[in-house]
Amino acid sequence: MYDSFASDYIEGKAYDGKMVRRLLTYVMPHRRLVAAAMAFMLVSTVLELLIPYITKVGIDQYLARLYQVYEAPPALRDSLLASDPGGRDYLRLDTGALLLRKASLEKADPAARRRLRSEGTLGVATYYVFEASSRRDGVGIVRGSYWLVPEAELSRVPPADLVALRGADLDGITRLAVIAALLIALGMVAGYGHVYALQIAGQRSMYDLRTALFRRVQTLSLSFFDRNPVGRLVTRTTNDVEALNEMVTAVLVNLVKDALLVVGTVAILFALNVRLALIALAVVPAFMAASFVFRRKARGAYREVRRLLAQLNATLAEDLSGIKIVQVFRREQRRKDGYRVTNEQFYAANIHQLVIFGVFRPLIELIATVGIALVLVFGGIASLQGGLTLGALVAFLSYVRQMFEPLSDMSEKYNIMQSAMASSERIFGIMDQEPTILERPAPVQTAVRGRVSFQGVSFAYVRDRPVLRDVTFTVEPGKSIAIVGPTGAGKTSIINLVCRFYDPDSGSVTLDGVDLRDISLRTLRDSIAVVLQDAFIFSRSIEDNIRLGTPMPRDQVEGAADMVQAKGFIERLAGGFDETMSERGATLSTGQKQLLCFARALAHDPKILILDEATSSVDPATERLIQQAIDTLMRGRTSIIVAHRISTIQRADEILVIDDGRIVERGTHSELLARRGIYYNLYVLQYVHSGTQTAEEAG
Ligand SMILES: Nc1ncnc2c1ncn2[C@@H]1O[C@H](COP(=O)(O)OP(=O)(O)OP(=O)(O)O)[C@@H](O)[C@H]1O
Ligand SMILES: [Mg+2]
Repeated sequence: MYDSFASDYIEGKAYDGKMVRRLLTYVMPHRRLVAAAMAFMLVSTVLELLIPYITKVGIDQYLARLYQVYEAPPALRDSLLASDPGGRDYLRLDTGALLLRKASLEKADPAARRRLRSEGTLGVATYYVFEASSRRDGVGIVRGSYWLVPEAELSRVPPADLVALRGADLDGITRLAVIAALLIALGMVAGYGHVYALQIAGQRSMYDLRTALFRRVQTLSLSFFDRNPVGRLVTRTTNDVEALNEMVTAVLVNLVKDALLVVGTVAILFALNVRLALIALAVVPAFMAASFVFRRKARGAYREVRRLLAQLNATLAEDLSGIKIVQVFRREQRRKDGYRVTNEQFYAANIHQLVIFGVFRPLIELIATVGIALVLVFGGIASLQGGLTLGALVAFLSYVRQMFEPLSDMSEKYNIMQSAMASSERIFGIMDQEPTILERPAPVQTAVRGRVSFQGVSFAYVRDRPVLRDVTFTVEPGKSIAIVGPTGAGKTSIINLVCRFYDPDSGSVTLDGVDLRDISLRTLRDSIAVVLQDAFIFSRSIEDNIRLGTPMPRDQVEGAADMVQAKGFIERLAGGFDETMSERGATLSTGQKQLLCFARALAHDPKILILDEATSSVDPATERLIQQAIDTLMRGRTSIIVAHRISTIQRADEILVIDDGRIVERGTHSELLARRGIYYNLYVLQYVHSGTQTAEEAG
């Protein structure tokens, strides 16, 4: 059985250059917005990458501004001091040794650091350094003009004094905090600009795409619609465009940024510390694999839940709307069982989804946590050894955390890209359809008189299954022809050819002697009004249903309705001509729908009237109304009528009897009756049904 609830997603490529290039043609008109978005994005990404670095500077420069004593040989000492005139990294002690700022050590290569330690020239103790004059008793030691407070003893300095002592550090921290706040604010503005501009560009592109798709579908010939069920077309124009929309919003907007963020973060990690960067990246493959599997499974489970929910709803809706049948035929138990099965499947799918989330979410978090823990352990050791400052370690941890999020999003984006590619393939598949009913470059546009003629017309919807064979007839302007015949004979098909919904395979259909293929479609269709077998009512107002968007005064609308005697029932509606119809005019009776369609045809005052009479019978009163309406419609027009009502047939100037695509009899009503052929038999059948008169009487 065809499962109409299954979404027709195809798993395939996540990137298809050809599709992406075609999609980009819809984005190109909005390239300025995209460019603006990219500029915003660069700014916000750089700022995002900058913030942890500011933390590092704050910690190393001000919070943990620690020094170690370094007994350097005099020549080296003097050159070091000369290289640092501002005294940021080196201070000279009266003993001849140097005070070396701890943070400056991380720049030295590990071998040099190891040598320093093994030589014993570099003290292990770390000190905060202040002016000797500010010394407090009992804390630290004084060396020349400096007061050295061991790191651990700082807490022994009274807090009030600390504020005064570390005034410069406090100022520095405050300055950095202000800078950081400004940058974060700027980053938010840029981030907003990025998302906003890109979303607008994306939505505009999708709008254009939907418009183009709708336009294309509208121009396609009916043979296309024979091959493509409406349901599927609706899915394409909504779901598939939505999949692209998702790609635009989720992928376009963030993919480039995420990629930049990851690349930038990794680069910074390596710049901070190569060894630690390698350790942090060690868990990335496991992390990516777990995220990928999770996203994939989660998506599959989500689709299954949606599918079953749709099925559950549909089952419920159908059972409830068909409740009469269910009860009358005592199908309650069976329907209950059916419902239970779907319900159980739905339950299982939900549990499945929960399990996937329950298993994978913690797993992914665990992997990320392991990565962070590794960084903490090895980073801590490196920090103790002087290879990494405290600030760098803190910044490193922030960067590592910042790296996992975009990485995890990337696997989701892969899935989105995959369905977007499948969707664009289907959408462009429709866009590539060419209408088969085309106009000539310079089609004939004339005032139409209304002579319709078929010359040896043969036609098939499907190859080798002819529906019309060698049909020849002519209707003079203002005259009428009635087409009768058994069901499936080809009556509606003749009408389809007159309207040029299809072109004949051989022979020609002409209007005023000009082949339809040479006439502009506009001229042709402006001169035709069609009332089809199944009266189609749009879910708009009655007035709109009659006007169909053609500008015409209300008087003309009401006049037309009056002439076909539809005004009576319309005025009895609560809203009259402004009453909004439900879908397909479900609140109107069959007869009323017919009358409304007649009013529509009459209001457009066509040269040619085409009427495919409905077979469904209506009550005698409505029957009479419809009959009179048809008379009104036919007056002064070329009329081609597929007729079932004996009264309509009798009124025609000529009757064509069609059987199996051929004209088997033709003539007037009395001529055909006299022949006692197919027409006579059809007629007898008809009168037996209506039971109003006998064949003999009518003849
Ligand atoms: N779109 C289509 N594609 C393929 N075959 C079609 C299509 N429309 C109609 N046919 C076939 O063409 C034949 C003629 O159909 P047509 O609609 O012209 O019959 P009809 O005389 O109008 O019948 P009815 O009185 O029941 O309306 C039928 O066998 C039908 O199955
Ligand atoms: Mg028909």
